[in-house]
Amino acid sequence: KVLEEHKLIDVHEKTADLYHHILMNTQIGEKALIYLKNRGLTEEVIKTFKIGFAPVDRSLLYKVLQKENFSEDTLKKSGLLFQLDNSNWLDRFYQRIMFPITNFQGKIIGFSGRILEDESFDSSDQPKYLNSPETELFNKRFILFNFHQARSEIRKKNEVILFEGFMDVISAYMSGVKNGVASMGTSLTVDQINALEKVSEEVLICYDGDNAGIEATSRAVDLISAQSMMNIQIVSLPDRQDPDDYRMKYGNDALNELIRTSRDTVFQFKKDYLKRDKNIQLETDKLLYIDELLTELVKVSSMVEVDSALTQLSTEFAISKETLQSELRSKKQNYK
Ligand code: CTP
Ligand code: MN
Ligand code: MN
Ligand code: MN
Ligand code: MN
Repeated sequence: KVLEEHKLIDVHEKTADLYHHILMNTQIGEKALIYLKNRGLTEEVIKTFKIGFAPVDRSLLYKVLQKENFSEDTLKKSGLLFQLDNSNWLDRFYQRIMFPITNFQGKIIGFSGRILEDESFDSSDQPKYLNSPETELFNKRFILFNFHQARSEIRKKNEVILFEGFMDVISAYMSGVKNGVASMGTSLTVDQINALEKVSEEVLICYDGDNAGIEATSRAVDLISAQSMMNIQIVSLPDRQDPDDYRMKYGNDALNELIRTSRDTVFQFKKDYLKRDKNIQLETDKLLYIDELLTELVKVSSMVEVDSALTQLSTEFAISKETLQSELRSKKQNYK
């Protein structure tokens, strides 16, 4: 079993080496390298994350791995190749920028590939990102992109930053923020939260500023609050941008500063979030809104934060603080 795992990891390490070599040193990787440089990545960063390129020829990986004496069983189990009707082998990934995914020990156990758009290749029916399939080693719900590399910085800062995408983690890294991780294109899982809580008391959510990102932030906030004792803060990206868009537009220092200084509490985030589908001028919407906010406040443990929030609400909606306090008390009783 251990030997098998070792072989599977070996396949992945060799595959990552190959894809990285193609990107950095060959003609077929040239367009991909230009693409990454246009997105602001330096060669140093490309090496740090061992980014690679899987070319359009779907027989390449098999040709290379065949020479390495891996068993057919190992090759199949890796998910990097499959066999058509028991004869020809096909590479899973092609025409994609390849991001190796490591386990918590830093061993490569899977990949995510981003399609490289190109006029000589019709990618219209291809997903933007394609992951390795679930294997014995690659369980998406346990994996966090960049966790191994970020762990010491997470511990040092006692804070982990959650991003939506790989490019956001890498963008933040280039702007000097090295405690970022991303889940594998799925929503955050309880297993990932458990892993994060072992190394950090603080979590900063920094998802995309579009609708999907805001909804995902709200779900992540609720799940982390329910499943852990971590303290949560939120960075809201402006103008539907993601952190990588923001860095491309305003530069490294601006992204660094945004992440350090534009933080909301969960309550501040929920104030904006719950207002989105309401017209507060309407009495019914306003009452519903206040009710939802008090429900959120039930979950806040800091008495100072609760008091400050009630003061704000009292002023904003011209309702006495005593009334808000007694409403909150009765909600708390029902909550228990
Ligand atoms: N994702 C995925 N499959 C897709 C689209 C997205 O698995 N078809 C995952 C990827 O992990 C991606 C993340 O969801 O990194 C966020 O998606 P999105 O915001 O659309 O991608 P970006 O990271 O912004 O990618 P890029 O900047 O390269 O367009
Ligand atoms: Mn997104
Ligand atoms: Mn994005
Ligand atoms: Mn992006
Ligand atoms: Mn705000």
